[in-house]
Amino acid sequence: MAYVSVEGIARRFAQPGGGVQTVFEDVHFGVAKGEFVCLIGHSGCGKTTILNILAGLDHTDSGVVVVGGKEAAGPSLDRAVIFQGHALMPWMTVRDNIAFAVSSRWRDWDKAKIAAQCQRYIDLVGLTGAERKKPAMLSGGMKQRVGIARALSIEPKMLLMDEPFSALDALTRGTLQEEVLRICAATQQTVFMITHDVDEAILLADRIVLMTNGPQAKIAEIVVNTLPRERTRHDVHKHPHYYRIRNHIVDFLVERSRAFNSNVPADWNPKNPPEVRPGLMEPPVRPVPPDGGSLRAAG
Ligand SMILES: Nc1ncnc2c1ncn2[C@@H]1O[C@H](COP(=O)(O)OP(=O)(O)OP(=O)(O)O)[C@@H](O)[C@H]1O
Ligand SMILES: [Mg+2]
Repeated sequence: MAYVSVEGIARRFAQPGGGVQTVFEDVHFGVAKGEFVCLIGHSGCGKTTILNILAGLDHTDSGVVVVGGKEAAGPSLDRAVIFQGHALMPWMTVRDNIAFAVSSRWRDWDKAKIAAQCQRYIDLVGLTGAERKKPAMLSGGMKQRVGIARALSIEPKMLLMDEPFSALDALTRGTLQEEVLRICAATQQTVFMITHDVDEAILLADRIVLMTNGPQAKIAEIVVNTLPRERTRHDVHKHPHYYRIRNHIVDFLVERSRAFNSNVPADWNPKNPPEVRPGLMEPPVRPVPPDGGSLRAAG
């Protein structure tokens, strides 16, 4: 049973020159409890809009999102969001930014209990010593850590992340990816994350949802990550499944994401997008070479 069930949602926006554009439609997928799901697709296909709908910050024009058996209408402290820009309150210290969230979650907690909860998550993301600093005094990576600590500190049932590492340099990104991987594994956190980065998706996700280009974007298929869950950035690429999965997703982004709507596979059913396991396929004839870093969807 999926904890989150996205059931046939569509979102339409009025166009400045008149008319209405359907950004995406017939979107169905689920996220199980404790599962880490990544959504990948080209810029503008509607990923952030889907995340906002999951967060209760936007509405659907058709279809529903069911979370924990209830329709998700409006934001909830059960679903914490990590935005691309850290969205911290600039006048508050690191600790106060987190304490604000903690005290909203548990209104009856006393100061000592709130402070202990803040410290636990500040330590967890490696910000010990920076408690009294304000966001302007922090590096981009440190700000993003505060955003992560704040989201985790309210112990949400679901963590929603919109390209949380995209603005960071490669080294910081790698460190934070591993930290998030470790924390999510330790706490069995349910996660829905948007990324443009194929390598990041394979490192972090149990399943990777592939979205076609908009308008009228759709979920083409869902890639099951058959790499063992104990993945590290340093040796993930050594696994025999790695390049098969990577090539499959890159091939989708380069070729199939664009052509999907004019060439819908005969057996494709939006209610049940195919789950594919490219890691178990034969090695490809023409491998896509590694680019030494990460391969990103246009965005
Ligand atoms: N409030 C709005 N009014 C009108 N159009 C909107 C609105 N919000 C989003 N859109 C349009 O919906 C489409 C999807 O936007 P969205 O931000 O979800 O894309 P995305 O997949 O997250 O892209 P990116 O990878 O660049 O972040 C875009 O074409 C955007 O212009
Ligand atoms: Mg976006």
